[in-house]
Amino acid sequence: MDSAPWSADIEAARQQWLAAVASCAQLPALRSVQVECLGKNGAVTALVRRIAEVPPADKRAYGQATAALKAACETAIATRQTELEAAEVQAELDDATFDCTLPPAAVLGNRARPTGHAHPLCTVQQEVEAVFSSMGFAVLDYPEVESEFNNFEALNIPGWHPAREMQDTFWLDNGLLLRTHTSSGQVRALHTFQPPFRAVFAGKVFRYEATDASHEHTFHQLEGLLVDRVVSVGHLLDSMRTLLSAILRRQVEVRLRPGYFPFVEPGFELDIACQLCGGAGCSACKQSGWLELLPCGLVHPQVLRAGGLDPAQWQGWAFGLGLSRLAMMRYGIGDVRLLLGGDVRFLSQF
Ligand code: DAH
Repeated sequence: MDSAPWSADIEAARQQWLAAVASCAQLPALRSVQVECLGKNGAVTALVRRIAEVPPADKRAYGQATAALKAACETAIATRQTELEAAEVQAELDDATFDCTLPPAAVLGNRARPTGHAHPLCTVQQEVEAVFSSMGFAVLDYPEVESEFNNFEALNIPGWHPAREMQDTFWLDNGLLLRTHTSSGQVRALHTFQPPFRAVFAGKVFRYEATDASHEHTFHQLEGLLVDRVVSVGHLLDSMRTLLSAILRRQVEVRLRPGYFPFVEPGFELDIACQLCGGAGCSACKQSGWLELLPCGLVHPQVLRAGGLDPAQWQGWAFGLGLSRLAMMRYGIGDVRLLLGGDVRFLSQF
């Protein structure tokens, strides 16, 4: 059977446009070919539309042939685009005058293109980690999405425990939750390391609660855990003092109060004299002159057990440092909400 009169047109178009695509050496040229071929007024688009003039008996075959032509052109253009993009990157890399080791423009004196800098929280976290690193602590990182076991149960906070009320959180559909504190990492560390060991792990934590100048639904903590045969509150306190004077770069007044946390016994609240008001009272310290900065204590035997250790053999101390609060003290920031607000006018001050 003779082929239909239009099939030669379609074959000619196929050859013409595939050759046009292949001959494009630059992306702008390819974009023009794309418009001329497949655009609203493109040649192939016109062929597709010409189905209206084809006799009814031929419509099906014509439709199939033009659809195949269009698909072939689309594929050729996409393939060529990938090739040309890769070639562009390669050309930049091959350019002998391009030096990827040069410092950014701002450092070279071009202030019209300022570079960014570390977020104050990041700076404080790195400094705290450096202090602990110098004391032999491993610096670890644990997930923000946690199991109920790691976040609560293993820390001696079963479902019925009133302490759960203080740390309402965001639950995921799959039963996991956003960790309410970095203490969830304690269980992970206990399961990972052979004692004796010492480690710090920092990051974001989440609470389902109303916000004010000193409360945020998302904030940062840094947890420390040390496990050894014999540990003492004196050792804990001295480590905390070393840390705080290194970070705040001055002797700071601290006070230790008994504090209840189900996962430590005894537990303490280490408060620091408010650096914003010097102890006179302000909105950040709720007019008390003191800021709760560092709850800590000796690891509860139940927690050691949940971590697979025998409390008759091993002891530990732990602390949960409020990194957001420490950054506020350090830089004199009066409202915690500024930290994660993303306002460049605020951030560029650091
Ligand atoms: N995880 C507690 C909280 O966020 C803080 C805390 C208290 C951590 C005592 C500790 C600790 O390691 O020993 O409220």
